[in-house]
Amino acid sequence: MDFWKKFFKANPILESYNNIDTKSSLEDVVLVKHLETKGKFVDIYITTKKNINLYELEQLCDAVGWVRRPLKKVKLAIDHSFLIICLFYKKDRYKKLIGFARATSDAVFHATIWDVVIHPDFQGKGLGKILMNQLVVELRCADISTITLFADPHVVSFYHNLGFIADPDGVKGMFWYPR
Ligand SMILES: CC(C)(COP(=O)(O)OP(=O)(O)OC[C@H]1O[C@@H](n2cnc3c(N)ncnc32)[C@H](O)[C@@H]1OP(=O)(O)O)[C@@H](O)C(=O)NCCC(=O)NCCS
Repeated sequence: MDFWKKFFKANPILESYNNIDTKSSLEDVVLVKHLETKGKFVDIYITTKKNINLYELEQLCDAVGWVRRPLKKVKLAIDHSFLIICLFYKKDRYKKLIGFARATSDAVFHATIWDVVIHPDFQGKGLGKILMNQLVVELRCADISTITLFADPHVVSFYHNLGFIADPDGVKGMFWYPR
């Protein structure tokens, strides 16, 4: 726990960050209390349950300008993911999804992180960092030691600051696409 306290102490918003170092599945656990957005204060919750509202996820991805994908395929991708993490806040009786990330894995050696997103209204508040670190904590709890991801060019330094390195020992990521 001390490591995480030191890691996050540079960012005041994260003082109320409730780091959860467990590998058990999380459901609606408060992660950050009283986060300010647009003059309102909300509590941010985390869940690793896969019963996500696909339309809400689509809206979240729309909000950051990602190309739409067929919801049927998105559902399959989520079902087959090793881990998903959702961040949301509750308003009256509904939940609003504001963050998402998922990881695929062989469950032993390797995991790859995909679809990391924080809603624009909640960006720049430390939530992306929390989301990523919670994902890494969960994967490390599963004893997975190699965690990879594909960073868009504009977010390389975001991941770099979280400890991810490009081209370790000169190793390059390579892609094959249908022509
Ligand atoms: C990238 C993203 C997840 C970051 O989330 P966020 O909540 O805004 O990030 P945080 O507030 O936690 O920022 C954590 C740190 O990263 C830095 N950071 C945030 N976005 C960054 C970016 N695009 N490039 C470089 N650094 C960035 C912050 O300045 C902060 O630095 P600090 O710890 O020194 O203060 C979010 O901007 C997003 O969803 N972007 C659109 C979708 C996207 O591009 N996803 C990545 C696909 S590979």
